[in-house]
Amino acid sequence: MMQTQTRGYLRRDRVFDFLAPSISDQLDRSHGTLLYMENVSVAFDGFQAINDLNFYVDNGELRCLIGANGAGKTTMMDIITGKTKPDTGRVVYGKNVDLLDLNEAQIAIAGIGRKFQKPTVFENLSVFTNLELSMADNKSIWWTLRSKLSSSQCDWIEQTADLVGLKEMLTKPSGYLSHGQKQWLEIGMLLMQKPLLLLIDEPVAGMTHQEMDKTGELLLSLAGDHTIVVVEHDMEFVRSIANRVTVLNQGTVLAEGTMEEIQNNDDVRRVYLGE
Ligand SMILES: Nc1ncnc2c1ncn2[C@@H]1O[C@H](COP(=O)(O)OP(=O)(O)O)[C@@H](O)[C@H]1O
Ligand SMILES: [Mg+2]
Repeated sequence: MMQTQTRGYLRRDRVFDFLAPSISDQLDRSHGTLLYMENVSVAFDGFQAINDLNFYVDNGELRCLIGANGAGKTTMMDIITGKTKPDTGRVVYGKNVDLLDLNEAQIAIAGIGRKFQKPTVFENLSVFTNLELSMADNKSIWWTLRSKLSSSQCDWIEQTADLVGLKEMLTKPSGYLSHGQKQWLEIGMLLMQKPLLLLIDEPVAGMTHQEMDKTGELLLSLAGDHTIVVVEHDMEFVRSIANRVTVLNQGTVLAEGTMEEIQNNDDVRRVYLGE
């Protein structure tokens, strides 16, 4: 049993060792754009979920992605993270990394982190340990459990907890956290991997207003050093954080611009308000 587990982790180590230096060395961010999706299409059993999509995200941007249910938002994230391979099109990271050549694990290692809607923290483990287990330079959980953290690693865990508003909760089991706090912990867990691009699916669903405000502040504080794409349905929240908003409809970009431009866009009004 233990042997099988260890072997699994070792396999993961091998991916780390072989990829971690090469991708970050290769990644050319001199260009303003961090992510390119060009002419991307994917069909599921003949249903065109993504249809000739063109989507570009600049370095350091905080982009909101909105659109009705079924518009293709999740599928888009699945394509960026390698979970779904498109039928046609290009998906490029930096100027020169073809994400279509990489698998999910390699894309994560290349610095693209994803937060799903439902928190997936280890409830029985402390906030500290949850963050620790997510650390980028940890070779494996096996390794973590057997070795001591360096003081710079401890600092990094504490700084991250502070950033996501959980410094006072470090020793508490994660199961004690509120729904909002669990969401922040998970954002913290993503940050432990020092991602360049964060994809965040509906961060404020189920949150109180106060938690929503704090989440907005957190995402705004992360932008710049990180590039963030947020999928969100709560328009009040989107309005509070958005610079640029992309509206997805039937698998393609319907409109893009500031919140004001989006609200006054004829195509958006036609689709959403039936005008
Ligand atoms: N694996 C799949 N198999 C079949 N249909 C899918 C699959 N994934 C998504 N779809 C369909 O593609 C469309 C877009 O879905 P999705 O990307 O989840 O939209 P959104 O996240 O914007 O609500 C939906 O009609 C959905 O039913
Ligand atoms: Mg979705």
